[in-house]
Amino acid sequence: MTEAHLAVVVLAAGNGTRMKSATPKVMHEIAGLPMLGHALATATSLGASYVIPVIRHEKDKLEAYVNAFYPTTHIAHQDETPGTGRAVECALNVLPEGFSGAVVVTSGDVPLLDVQTIEAMLDVHLSSGAGATLLTAVFDDPAGYGRIIRDDAGAFSSIVEHRDATDDELEITEVNAGVYVFDFDALKSALANIGLHSAVGEKYLTDAATEILKSGKAVQALQVSDNWLVAGVNDRVQLQQVSAELNRRICEGWMLSGVTIADPQTTFIDITVTLGEDVTLLPGTHLKGISSIGRGSTVGPEVSMEDTQVGEDVTIIKAHIAGSVIEAGASVGPYSYIRPGTNLGAGGKIGTFVETKNARIGAGSKVPHLSYVGDATIGEHSNIGAGTIFANYDGVEKHHSIVGSHVRTGAHNVFVSPITIGDGAYTAGGTVVRKDVDPGDLAMSVAPQRNLADWVLANRSNTAAAKAAAKAKE
Ligand code: UD1
Ligand code: MG
Repeated sequence: MTEAHLAVVVLAAGNGTRMKSATPKVMHEIAGLPMLGHALATATSLGASYVIPVIRHEKDKLEAYVNAFYPTTHIAHQDETPGTGRAVECALNVLPEGFSGAVVVTSGDVPLLDVQTIEAMLDVHLSSGAGATLLTAVFDDPAGYGRIIRDDAGAFSSIVEHRDATDDELEITEVNAGVYVFDFDALKSALANIGLHSAVGEKYLTDAATEILKSGKAVQALQVSDNWLVAGVNDRVQLQQVSAELNRRICEGWMLSGVTIADPQTTFIDITVTLGEDVTLLPGTHLKGISSIGRGSTVGPEVSMEDTQVGEDVTIIKAHIAGSVIEAGASVGPYSYIRPGTNLGAGGKIGTFVETKNARIGAGSKVPHLSYVGDATIGEHSNIGAGTIFANYDGVEKHHSIVGSHVRTGAHNVFVSPITIGDGAYTAGGTVVRKDVDPGDLAMSVAPQRNLADWVLANRSNTAAAKAAAKAKE
């Protein structure tokens, strides 16, 4: 079959009322991608010439997402008639005149379905010449799913939706997974022939299967062995269950690729993350977005990281990091807040209770303790003293400061931006730097220290301090 004869329809037009959410159901995320993203990633991997997401509910949000991330797909808009059957009918209208071949139908709310399962269905479907091939699964708890009705010989006869089923039918544990391959012509005429279910006013796609059978064509019902692949998400309980299972699979995949994960139950890794060999992830680590960690690095415990690139042999302990780059051999934490635009150079350090933002910290430079580095460029092998604040905001605008290489700044400094401190300069403890410091200079802004002799003995007599002082003077 040439690819010009394959179309994949992804259903995403439903209301998703059971989610009770302002976010459309298929836009709820698991492992860092909306469920629709997972479904479209699979759909677009099949090599079909037409991938057709069908949308209606919250169509602007869905359309924006699809156009941004899957621009080669052909969006179909469902009209006011509800139901999965109508949704597919609207999708078929997008196909060009004269199209023939197979139509795969999947759902935006079945996020774990993989390419291999659909390819296996396509093989059976095409070699058997069936009018329709659908996927089934046997669930311990089939509540909510359509039940597969088979005849005495065990052949497929129809699908009954949970809401329409008799008590006897509700006992059936084999369910419709909502994944189908249809022959285009058989599907098109079946959809034209079926009516609406009067109780709900919907056109069911499931009725198309029975209709194809009536027309004399075979309908195959293949049972999937891995039930998670077809788990549908209709409410937030199922969202959590599917998301936990996907995370379990992602962690297992990385462990088999050479990553040590101390506690997969508390480690969450988006599908968009990449990890090198001999990375160690300690408990409570959340890796999100387009993030990567290089070989030999140890991250955790308790690190959340988003859209951040980490080099090799880095150590990060108890930190939140977003939109940043941590180069090889650097160390971060514990208790660091690394905000977007931070670039920590090779072998550098961002230490305890340090916040950074839009800060380029050069190779080997250190900000070890209790500091804020915002809108700054620091050269190489410089040390920023404990308790230093880059005062970048004058109440109206943000300003940028530059610190050179091999600079030593004293503890408890304030750098009132914009200032520049030259290479090899020093600043004394407690300095408020308001003017540029030339290379090699020492900047001091503190008043000379005055000691009032015996002030404690005279003004705080009989205190423990006064007694200790008197004793020391004996
Ligand atoms: C559907 C099947 C059911 C199956 C289950 C598997 C029908 C009638 N029922 O039920 O047999 O066991 O999936 O998960 O098909 N959608 C549209 N337009 C609509 C309605 C729905 O595009 O008018 C989309 C939804 O966005 C969703 C998918 O179709 O992605 C399935 O709809 P949903 O309402 O979740 O159907 P289920 O009740 O799960
Ligand atoms: Mg569903």
